[in-house]
Amino acid sequence: MTAANATFTAMDHSTQEEWSLIATETVANQPRVAETVLNMLRGLETITDGFAVDQLIHSLQTATRAEAAGADEEVIVASLCHDLGKAVSVANHPKIAAEILRPYVRPEVATMIAVHQDFQGKHYYAFLGMDPTLRTKHEGSEYYDLAKQFADEWDQNSFDPNFVNQPLEHFEPMVRRVFAQPRSM
Ligand SMILES: [Fe+2]
Repeated sequence: MTAANATFTAMDHSTQEEWSLIATETVANQPRVAETVLNMLRGLETITDGFAVDQLIHSLQTATRAEAAGADEEVIVASLCHDLGKAVSVANHPKIAAEILRPYVRPEVATMIAVHQDFQGKHYYAFLGMDPTLRTKHEGSEYYDLAKQFADEWDQNSFDPNFVNQPLEHFEPMVRRVFAQPRSM
């Protein structure tokens, strides 16, 4: 049976017991995070923006390639979620996705997503009058090789209507495991 909710109307009037209750409820409701992420992924099906496949298919193809290459579960889930930010705003989508992932993955995996456009730009920025060499500023970093592999081998080539990708259901248990427990706040 669920305990009664806190009754304070301002935090200045709250009690230790009420914060114990809120902390307990927050931990108990953690599965909500994975379900929210899965719903956001499903929502990417409505975003195409002129590409040959919608953003859900693109995300599934990227994650399928990461898994086939032997990437670990955090990297596979990050690959699946790398364009999640497009559900909100294309312009700043890498950092939105990176911040959703950051408490749940090791630092270089979150950073791989945060900077993925700098690496991806090699493949198309020249067509938009932008600098395709932005990845050079990340040379020497601990995440460089992973970010390079992500962009060059999994992400930039995942717009293929004929590619047979895993369905979202295949990745759902991985999403629930990765988002089960924040490793940092
Ligand atoms: Fe992408």
